[in-house]
Amino acid sequence: MDDHERTREAWGRAGEKYVREHAAFLAEARTATLFPHELDVVGPVLARGPEVLHPMSGNGVDDHALLHAGAVRVTGLDYDERAVTSAQERADALWAPVRYVRADVPPFPVPDASVDVVYTGKGAVVWVADLEAWAGESARVLRPGGHLFVHEAHPMVPLYGLDAHGTRVRDDRSCFAASHVNDTFPAHGAVERQHALGEVVTAVAGAGLRVEVLREHPEPFWRPGDVEAAAWGGRLPNSYSLLARLSG
Ligand SMILES: C[S@@+](CC[C@H](N)C(=O)[O-])C[C@H]1O[C@@H](n2cnc3c(N)ncnc32)[C@H](O)[C@@H]1O
Repeated sequence: MDDHERTREAWGRAGEKYVREHAAFLAEARTATLFPHELDVVGPVLARGPEVLHPMSGNGVDDHALLHAGAVRVTGLDYDERAVTSAQERADALWAPVRYVRADVPPFPVPDASVDVVYTGKGAVVWVADLEAWAGESARVLRPGGHLFVHEAHPMVPLYGLDAHGTRVRDDRSCFAASHVNDTFPAHGAVERQHALGEVVTAVAGAGLRVEVLREHPEPFWRPGDVEAAAWGGRLPNSYSLLARLSG
């Protein structure tokens, strides 16, 4: 089994959560918002009423947050059958203009220049093996003047021990490794790519997009388990936001 198949299998197992916790995700979707530090960067773009493509849409809760921030329509892409089916049920229950397509990305199964915003992250870019293909697809599907927005785990995060008292760098991880096997829920067993910020920015710029904002945040986008890690205490970077624009 190669890394791609291992990751897909891990997400297949994790997808059960999207079905099992349907009611909780539905309740969350009703009032969902993006993080304040995300909205600081992408809020003005969403307020213009864009059509959004969301690769690796997962449980779909963020699609409702995108609508609440101003998006007029969202298309979510995910390769997990349970993820797309349960997210579509929630969108339909809320009469929300969100459509889900089952797809292994990249490539993105939408026409050239057909959306205003590509929104992705919170555990998405870390599953992409080919960053150039991912950035190239983002540029291809954007209308002139459209934006790519990424809110993702900071590349330092795999190094943090989740100790409550004191920060610790794990001895079994390296910032310069190409990947590691995820050891927390829900992606346990998936092969997580460790893209340095420089690699992400270089791929985005190489696809012809102009980086307008790159901001590192102390807040993690996700907190596994019932832990309160010292690494989340505000001294270390835990996530980043990147906004890039296609000329036109
Ligand atoms: C952490 S979740 C998605 C994050 C999403 N923004 C959320 O908050 O739910 C990761 C999702 O990526 C999907 N995924 C991982 N690799 C993929 C690929 N190559 N193509 C499509 N979907 C993929 C998984 O099925 C999973 O639902």
